[in-house]
Amino acid sequence: MKNKTRNMSRRKLFQWGLGTASTLVVSHSVAKVCGAETGAQGLGPFFPRPDTPVDPIKENPDGSVPIFLSNDNDLTFVRGRKGTASGQQVIVRGVLRNENCEPISGATIIIWQASESGRYNHKGDSANSDFKDPRSGKLIKRTLDPFFQSWGQTTTNEHGEYEFKTIVPGFYPADLNAGWYRPPHIHFMVSATGYPQFVTQMYFEGEAIADNAFIQELNEKDFLLQTNSITPAQRKELVVSFDSGLRGKELIGQFDITIKR
Ligand SMILES: [Fe+2]
Repeated sequence: MKNKTRNMSRRKLFQWGLGTASTLVVSHSVAKVCGAETGAQGLGPFFPRPDTPVDPIKENPDGSVPIFLSNDNDLTFVRGRKGTASGQQVIVRGVLRNENCEPISGATIIIWQASESGRYNHKGDSANSDFKDPRSGKLIKRTLDPFFQSWGQTTTNEHGEYEFKTIVPGFYPADLNAGWYRPPHIHFMVSATGYPQFVTQMYFEGEAIADNAFIQELNEKDFLLQTNSITPAQRKELVVSFDSGLRGKELIGQFDITIKR
């Protein structure tokens, strides 16, 4: 069944003339109707503010720069520390547009996310530190990764394009009594002159993503992704397909964002 679905989506890509055997990058956003607003999601409790990080990662030593603006768009290492972030590396890229399908340049995009083991670099993320994997019962220790940058920022170029290099974050318990686990996700905040600030969350899909089947189960059961405050089409856009690209080891996913004035 899974293969059938995958083959179908690949066939559709070929129908649109967008795929070749060697360069196929599967992406929901390829099919996106231009101008449709991206679904908004809540900020969540772990947005990095100046006094909230447990590990005050700052690649820019300028103390006047807010902590969430003091790092670049590569979250897989921290400058000055000899090591690489644990986890499956991915490139997340996309185009920021407005409701008229015009690219928005010069916008600031901030992302923040958990480490590979599902831990945020945030003082508020202390409950349920260790939890049992619902599949195996094995204890998962949620730990900070000193080589993971935890958050990053970039500016869209003249074509409205942005890019981040990061890792697939871990899942983590949101409410153990309810059996609710947050699926791996990346928080996004978009600030563009002339537009209201936009906040959302991006989710993962793809056969090459480790534990993809389990992640899709978590996506289906996640109260935030399944909220009625976004449309089914918007929900689909928030779940990004990752596939191997031309550059090498990282998987690539395309997450285009459309915001309205
Ligand atoms: Fe989160």
